[in-house]
Amino acid sequence: MATLTHAGFRVLIGEFGGCDLYFSEMISAEAMIGGTRYERYYTMGDPDPRRLVYQVVGYTQERIVEAASRLAQTGAAGVDLNMGCSAPHIVRKGGGIAWMADPDAAARLVERAREAVGDRSLSVKVRLGATEDPEGLVDLCRALESAGADFITLHPKTRKQSAGRPARWSYVRLLREKLTIPVIGNGGVTGEATLRSRLAEAGDGGVMVGRAAARAPWIFAYLRRRLRDGRCEYRVDLATVARRFFTLLESHQPPDFLATRAARFASYFTQNLAFGHALGARLGASRSYERIREELLAYFETHPETRIHVERG
Ligand SMILES: Cc1cc2nc3c(=O)[nH]c(=O)nc-3n(C[C@H](O)[C@H](O)[C@H](O)COP(=O)(O)O)c2cc1C
Repeated sequence: MATLTHAGFRVLIGEFGGCDLYFSEMISAEAMIGGTRYERYYTMGDPDPRRLVYQVVGYTQERIVEAASRLAQTGAAGVDLNMGCSAPHIVRKGGGIAWMADPDAAARLVERAREAVGDRSLSVKVRLGATEDPEGLVDLCRALESAGADFITLHPKTRKQSAGRPARWSYVRLLREKLTIPVIGNGGVTGEATLRSRLAEAGDGGVMVGRAAARAPWIFAYLRRRLRDGRCEYRVDLATVARRFFTLLESHQPPDFLATRAARFASYFTQNLAFGHALGARLGASRSYERIREELLAYFETHPETRIHVERG
């Protein structure tokens, strides 16, 4: 997730026990090929390159394949092609979900990228498309499978459906029935209850967790324990987690990126506080890294009773 799943944040997740597979922020193929001084930050493999998938977003087959080839040589587990991003400035130029509108071009891209990544995994992240069209979705994903995709992640929403709309996990089930490669479901998993209900709708299989991991970097550790032991109360000291996040952010990101990354993290992390909404909105809109850091840490100093968070959901 752009501005969220940078190396520092992934290390924090790793310190709680990690997840099966980490996905990088989307990496712009055009920027990478053009040469950017930030490239080394986007391509850090922490905490474990063997469990890291680099996601590439781009507009032309040539550039995406070149970026995929370079990323595959870093020792990472794999490369993921972003065919799901619906941000207008990316779609307008032919990136993200725009690839879904041209299944032949999408399949050719996967075929070429397949060759380029060699023995690394090659995956694709998709949405439903511009509209709900089950047959079209199945045809496209079958074509991606035939072209060499190792797995597909589906965020089952159309291009225009907003983050607040529930994801339609019945489409994850549909793809699981129609494809032979694994299909990872994504959207709206926030804890044990939502995890179980999404799996009930889609059938067993992989699950990708996005925003909930930004609110609760311990979510994978918590869910693992919860599924194994049944009821469990997972306690964390939010002040310690926040402090550690800032330390890791500073050691894994360039100074230019600190404010945007801290603001985004704070807007999710403050959802752990019963009255954190105003604080989260303020920090999320702030452009000063120092202010975000100081204000969040000061909050825990002045409200010590909020430090201990018990994850239960
Ligand atoms: C801040 C933010 C950045 C995101 N960046 C990406 C991205 O770079 N690549 C991608 O495939 N999806 C991206 N997404 C979408 C998420 O991967 C995911 O599909 C979506 O948030 C739904 O999952 P969730 O309910 O678990 O968060 C982003 C979402 C957010 C909120």
